[in-house]
Amino acid sequence: MEVMDAIKGRRAIRRYLPDPVSPEALSILLEAARWAPSWGNSQCWRLLVVRDRGVKGRLAEAMGSTAGRRENRSAQAVREAPVVIVGCAQLGLSGMFRGGQRKGQAATDKGPYWYMFDLALAMQNLTLAAHSLGLGTVHVGMFDSAQVAQVLNVPDDVSVVEIMPLGYPAENPETRPRQPVAEFVFYDGYGEPRSQL
Ligand SMILES: Cc1cc2nc3c(=O)[nH]c(=O)nc-3n(C[C@H](O)[C@H](O)[C@H](O)COP(=O)(O)O)c2cc1C
Repeated sequence: MEVMDAIKGRRAIRRYLPDPVSPEALSILLEAARWAPSWGNSQCWRLLVVRDRGVKGRLAEAMGSTAGRRENRSAQAVREAPVVIVGCAQLGLSGMFRGGQRKGQAATDKGPYWYMFDLALAMQNLTLAAHSLGLGTVHVGMFDSAQVAQVLNVPDDVSVVEIMPLGYPAENPETRPRQPVAEFVFYDGYGEPRSQL
């Protein structure tokens, strides 16, 4: 599949068939994540592959309703998808000086949060590779990360960033609209909308 076709054809999938994801397909997706770029090649991503029905149920619980919150609209996807990937990041690597006098300090005004960026790159690689194999995914960011960390025994120096159901789609959702390029691209200064293409 061409890269632009994968980018434009991918949709958030929230309904899944029970069909399993083969180990071969899964290893292609993990390889796609592996080749993402990262801050200083620090590769802070840590991915948990969840297939156990009971664990998936507990992840869905961390996505609302039991804690009085409205349930995340992808909670059922986490319950029914054959695989759920939980995207985590080792803290203290991305965006940080790793040697010299400023070792351990943040390198930019974004502080220690560049791990969010690196993890997103890896997970989007995985998502596009999944789409190219006919598999569906959805990025899920709204959940109680402390609860997820407890379910999966994630240590304190690793942040749980996202939950991603994975499987063969049982739906073909409408394309969500995107703003025109002219609305978010500026030339030679913020707010300069003059098109140069
Ligand atoms: C960082 C991030 C967090 C998201 N969190 C959730 C979520 O908690 N629950 C959910 O159902 N969808 C979530 N989504 C999916 C978006 O709603 C979806 O990608 C967006 O509406 C665009 O639709 P599309 O992916 O089909 O193009 C999230 C997407 C991103 C990128």
